[in-house]
Amino acid sequence: MKRTVAVFGAGYIGLVTGACLAELGHTVTVRDIVPERIQQLDQGDVPIYEPGLVEMIARNTERLAFTLDANEAVRDAEIVYVCVDTPPTASGDADLSRVFAVIDVLKSASHLTAVVVKSTVPVGTGARIRAALDDAGLGHVGYAANPEFTAEGKAVSDFMHPDRVVVGTWEDATAKLVAELHDGVDGPVVLMDVPSAELTKLGANAALATKISLVNELATVCEATGADITQVAAAIGLDPRIGSHFMKAGLGYGGSCFPKDSRALRALASNNGYPFQLLTSVIEVNELQTRRHVQRLKVELDGLYRKKIAVLGMTFKPGTDDMREAPSAIIAARLLAEGAEVHCWDPMAKAQAVEPWTSTTRHETPLEALGGADAAIIVTEWPELAQVSWAEAHAVMRRPLILDGRNLLDPPTMAGHGFTYMSVGRPTSTV
Ligand code: UDX
Repeated sequence: MKRTVAVFGAGYIGLVTGACLAELGHTVTVRDIVPERIQQLDQGDVPIYEPGLVEMIARNTERLAFTLDANEAVRDAEIVYVCVDTPPTASGDADLSRVFAVIDVLKSASHLTAVVVKSTVPVGTGARIRAALDDAGLGHVGYAANPEFTAEGKAVSDFMHPDRVVVGTWEDATAKLVAELHDGVDGPVVLMDVPSAELTKLGANAALATKISLVNELATVCEATGADITQVAAAIGLDPRIGSHFMKAGLGYGGSCFPKDSRALRALASNNGYPFQLLTSVIEVNELQTRRHVQRLKVELDGLYRKKIAVLGMTFKPGTDDMREAPSAIIAARLLAEGAEVHCWDPMAKAQAVEPWTSTTRHETPLEALGGADAAIIVTEWPELAQVSWAEAHAVMRRPLILDGRNLLDPPTMAGHGFTYMSVGRPTSTV
């Protein structure tokens, strides 16, 4: 059955959720508080980059509206989706003020059937929202936790073809309603209670972050012993109990989810009197990755003071313009702190009017950034970097030193071009 849905929040998650629900045939109004964002969307401009999203929004204009007015969004809605952000507070807890601002708006919406929360929230939030709804006389309105597991750059396909749709509820009718809302989605719906659904999201991200830190620690051991992490990880990953995904050594994870969610789960455990030691180590290993590799450059260059360093890639991963918690920011800031001159290139990162970027020079092409450089560090594995003429790059650099922080390039080929080629967890190659 097709439903009428209000989606609160037109960020990555809200926009994708709204567009995909419209694609599934539901009538959707997406509400945001930022006027420019709504204006842009009304004009058919999509303020975020996500493959397939522009086309999907254009295809569904008849069933998809955007508004600044919360009451307008809720007026005809049967279901309200909460997709607002929950940034960390000073104590490391999630700031739920935006979530509860939405719940406040619903106080007179007695016609609603269910409120569904997609925002990442600590365990126990659903129970608080339930109580708030009950206090407002909305005891008949169902509640569901429906966490997202979407990766940026794959958000539309992750929604339409998910590994699982997790729906946490307290009553069967709401479970059925939210499950049916996903009719047409190609993936299993997993029903559970609300606290379990809330923890599943944090647990899944903790598991993936743990895998990345494990492979990064193994890479450090490889560097110390002469082993090659790409060979080691490929062989380890063939065991289906381990799996080959998320086994790429590099400069560590960034983005809007892993750093925030791993810290949020650690804070949740600490608040309950339990020190989550494994997760603490995962976070520390990740933080060390960027610093450790800047130090490797420093040793190789005999100091970074007044050295010209090209930083290739700024976004936290390729295929996105997202700079949230990008390892590049720590790398650029560390290089500047050591007195280096930093020259950056990225094909998609928007201009950054904040430090460390304001103290760096941005270039249009990798070759331009590499001109006169004493070393280059590959921070994001953009496919464009594999296409660079490294022979030409060798000719324009002052010193032929590459630190490939994502193991993007081939060591013998780079050595063949005359580079000293360092990477993560692989032996350094030279001619
Ligand atoms: C992630 C999860 O994949 C998603 O399920 C969750 O809902 C949100 O967080 P996202 O942050 O978009 O999605 O990016 P992802 O592609 O998962 O990569 C996260 C980070 O880990 C990137 O910085 C990436 O470079 C790094 N990474 C990933 C590695 O260092 N090694 C790997 O093997 C995989």
